[in-house]
Amino acid sequence: MADGETSGDYADIARRFRAAPSGPFHGYHTARRPEPDPELTRVGPGTPCGEYFRRFWVPVALAQEVTDVPLRLRILGEDLVLFRDKGGRYGLLHLHCSHRNASLEYGVVEERGIRCCYHGWLYDVDGTILEQPAQRTEGGRAKFCHGAYPTIDYLGLIFAYLGPPNEQPAFPRYDTTMLPDVEMVPYSIHYPCNWLQIAENTMDPWHTVFLHARVTDIHFGDTWGIAPLTEFYTREDKVFATLTYRIDDMIWVRSQETLFPSFSQVGAWWEDGREEKYFRRASITKWTIPHDDDNCMIIAWRSFGPGIDPKGFGNREQVGWNSVDFPGQTGVEPYEYRQRHPNDYEAQVSQGSINSHAAEHLSFTDKGVAYLRRKIRKAIRTIQQGGSLPEATRVGDEWLTHVQDTVLPIPVQPGREDWELLSEVTKAVMDVVFAGDRYSGAERVKFIETELRKIKHDARFLASTA
Ligand code: FES
Ligand SMILES: [Fe+2]
Repeated sequence: MADGETSGDYADIARRFRAAPSGPFHGYHTARRPEPDPELTRVGPGTPCGEYFRRFWVPVALAQEVTDVPLRLRILGEDLVLFRDKGGRYGLLHLHCSHRNASLEYGVVEERGIRCCYHGWLYDVDGTILEQPAQRTEGGRAKFCHGAYPTIDYLGLIFAYLGPPNEQPAFPRYDTTMLPDVEMVPYSIHYPCNWLQIAENTMDPWHTVFLHARVTDIHFGDTWGIAPLTEFYTREDKVFATLTYRIDDMIWVRSQETLFPSFSQVGAWWEDGREEKYFRRASITKWTIPHDDDNCMIIAWRSFGPGIDPKGFGNREQVGWNSVDFPGQTGVEPYEYRQRHPNDYEAQVSQGSINSHAAEHLSFTDKGVAYLRRKIRKAIRTIQQGGSLPEATRVGDEWLTHVQDTVLPIPVQPGREDWELLSEVTKAVMDVVFAGDRYSGAERVKFIETELRKIKHDARFLASTA
């Protein structure tokens, strides 16, 4: 850190930077960019943010990446090896062999566990040392275990828990992963930058107006360039945003959310708000997971099937490792092309290896980003103080989320400010969505859809015929 500054005085760093003399041709005074905020961005073992991540199950790889040879991974600043033994069990171990530190990425996957190539030590998936050939150990077994983490294979993503064993939480099975008419297709995209600037994009809905519609190209629906009415909310377990658009005679209410530690969901990228629909759910269900301070990945599912994509806009053949079926997310195009047609990847990665918050000037459109940073900072400090974090609302085995798109036929009311109408309709929609928290599964969906359909007949939202 610069000048011995600590995370505790990061606000001072920002204040000093912003108080520098300013004016035309005054670049000299702000040439030295402030350091990033370590409390929110450093993720290695023992760091506050690293401990925060180490209280959750997080996806670390796609099941399809695990073959008959070990897979080397870097997660939260730790070098690890993931493998599937011939008995079909996944193991996630510290990369370096406990004997003399050879990398287990060169190990041999066996019927039970993985064997180091150097002197043949054999490790079980839980880190138990099964064999130490040629060692004179009492009873034939080591008295210590190799570093290992529990894993769960869920819908093609391998999740791991890297935290203290006695604080292992329940595994989150979110509602959007259990919809009967939706297929979850795993993918991951790697980014050469800090996790936070990727994760906070969901809480920056105004970028969709400019980056995706107005500044260079229309990337998704043409209606994305219409300025939405935005509201931001925090709940115990999440930050969420509503974006409400007036599209001719329709009102489109979109909600998207970010839950601990870095889990986000957004609606369909092809949605344009022109057709009536109710409680259409996530098209992307994703985590942003740090490899280390300067690298991260989105690891996620894309949703396919009639429940989210009745017209078949998505292309599941293009979804997988380092790819997804919409452009501008991977940085694979030539540099000049990306300069002329910047998209999410360019905007986020170009903030720097680790974005310097102290050099930013947040404003009205950044309310969601500010909420999210505050929420995460508070959560990090809760963990530091020995506390625990709230889980998402659960009904039985189903963890409830609230991402959705609803499009209602409600025309402009003559003599009434339209933003006021949009605001009231948004509130009515989200009240129904949250009222559904008493139910789960099909019962919840039925309740919410039925109640949402009533809104278009609500006298408050009908144009007066007088
Ligand atoms: S270094 Fe792995 S067995 Fe010796
Ligand atoms: Fe975007």
